[in-house]
Amino acid sequence: PVEVFDLVIFGATGDLARRKILPGLYRRYLAGQITGESRIIGAARTDLDAEGFRQLVRDAIAEFVAADKRDTAVIEDFLSHLDYVSIDAAKGDQGWKSLKAMIRQGVVQAFYFSVAPSLFGDLAEKLHDHGIAHSESRIVVEKPFGRDLASAQALNAMLASHFEERQIYRIDHYLGKETVQNLMAVRFANILFEPLWNSQFIDHVQITVGETVGVEGRGAYYDKSGAMRDMVQNHLMQLLCLIAMEPPYHFDPNAVRDEKLKVIRALQPVPAEDIVRGQYLPMNGAPGYLEDCEDPESKTESYIALKVHVANWRWKGTPFYLRTGKKLRARASEIAITFKEPPHSIFDDAAGWRENVLVIRLQPNEGMNLKVMIKEPGPGGMRLTQVPLDMSFADALGAEGADIPDAYERLIMDVIRGNQTLFMRGDEVEAAWAWTDPIIKGWEARGDRPHGYDPGSSGPEDALMLMHRDGRRWREIK
Ligand code: BG6
Repeated sequence: PVEVFDLVIFGATGDLARRKILPGLYRRYLAGQITGESRIIGAARTDLDAEGFRQLVRDAIAEFVAADKRDTAVIEDFLSHLDYVSIDAAKGDQGWKSLKAMIRQGVVQAFYFSVAPSLFGDLAEKLHDHGIAHSESRIVVEKPFGRDLASAQALNAMLASHFEERQIYRIDHYLGKETVQNLMAVRFANILFEPLWNSQFIDHVQITVGETVGVEGRGAYYDKSGAMRDMVQNHLMQLLCLIAMEPPYHFDPNAVRDEKLKVIRALQPVPAEDIVRGQYLPMNGAPGYLEDCEDPESKTESYIALKVHVANWRWKGTPFYLRTGKKLRARASEIAITFKEPPHSIFDDAAGWRENVLVIRLQPNEGMNLKVMIKEPGPGGMRLTQVPLDMSFADALGAEGADIPDAYERLIMDVIRGNQTLFMRGDEVEAAWAWTDPIIKGWEARGDRPHGYDPGSSGPEDALMLMHRDGRRWREIK
C-alpha cells in the first residue's frame, strides 16, 4: 500500500479522467494499494455535488474497467473515498475556499492537472495564492507540454515560479508501460546484452507505434499538433532514450534522467530526405484525414517516419528508424534491434541465414522475443533456420504477467510514492523540443505536403524507400 493521500484531479469530468485516471485509481484500490483514509477529490467547472461525481465515476468504471474486475461492493467502498468541488480555474474564489477546507495536512498531497495547458498557470497560481499547496505538494501535468521550445520554456518557468522541480511530475504515459520499464531491466540486469549494445554489433533500431484509430472526434486539436508533436517528441523519443542511454550509476530519478538527457542532446538534425510524412486517405465512404480535421488544405501529418542518428561513441553509424501513424494496419508498438552479421560464416547455407533481432513488444501481447539461428531439425544436412526465443509476459509469468497494470495506474502510484524516475524532467522536455523545432520548421518552410496513404496499410510508399535505399526493410506491422 502507498501512504495516505489527498489527490485532487482538476479536469475530473474530462475524457482522460473518465477513461484512464479514475478507472486506474479504482483498480489500484481493488488491488489493495490505496489505504483507508486516502481521498480523491474531483475538481472541474461542471456544477456537480459529491454524489453526482460518484455517479459519473460509477459509470466510468462500468465503461472502462473489465467486467471481471468490477465488484459492486468494492466499487461502492472506493466511491466513498471520493469528493467533488466545483471550481473555475480562471475566476471566482468560492471553489478554492471549499477546496482548501477539504484538504488535510499531514498526508501526501497531489494535484493532477488534467486540463488544457493554457490553464496550468491559473491553477498553479490559485493553489499558491489560496495557501492550498505547500512545499511538499506534488503536481502532475499532462501532455502536451508545450508545442515548441519557446512555449515549453514558458510553461517550465511558470511552474517553477510556484513549485520546485522535485514537486513536478510531467507525465509521458509511455514510461508507465510495463515493457518500457522492462527494457531497463533487460539492459541493465543482464550481462548478455550490454556488451553487444553499440554500433559495432547493432546494425539498426526500428521503433514503431502503429495505431488503427484515426483522429475522428479530436481532429481540430490534432491538426494543430500532428504525429511529430503528438507522438515523436515525447513517446518515441522516450523509447529511443531508454535504448540509447548509457547505464545510469543507480536506478534513481536524476541518474536515469541525466542519461536520457545526454541522448536527446546527441540527436542530430534530420535532413529533409530522411523524413516521410503522410495523411490517411478516404476509403469506402470512411472520411480521410482532411475530412476528419475539417481543413481541406491541412498539411499536418497523421503519419511520420524518420531516420535519426545519435551522435556519440556508442551509436556512431547505427541509424534509428522511427515511425508512427494513425489508421495503420494494426495497433502494434514495438522496438526491434537488429544485430549485424557474424564476421565470418562457416556454413555453406548462406540462404538460410538471418540477422539476430531482439523485438520488444509494447502492445498488444507485451513481451520480448529474440530471434536466433539454429540448425533446421532433421537429416537434411547443416541447414540454418531462425527461431524465436519467445517470452510473452502473460505466458511466462502466469496470472501476474497477464494482469499488467495500465500505465496510468503505475504512474499515479509513483506520484504518491514520490518517485520521479518515470517522469520527464523540465530540461529533458526542452531538449526534446530543441531537436523537434527545426525539423518542423524545415518542412513548414519548404511547404511540404504529406503523402496520402490507404487506411489499413503500413503507411505511405515513400516510407518504404526510407529503408530500402539503405538496404534495409521495415518489419511488418501486424
Ligand atoms: C497519446 C496521443 O499521447 O497517445 C494519442 O495524444 C495516441 O494521439 C495515444 O493515440 C496512444 O497511446 P497508447 O497508450 O494507446 O499507445
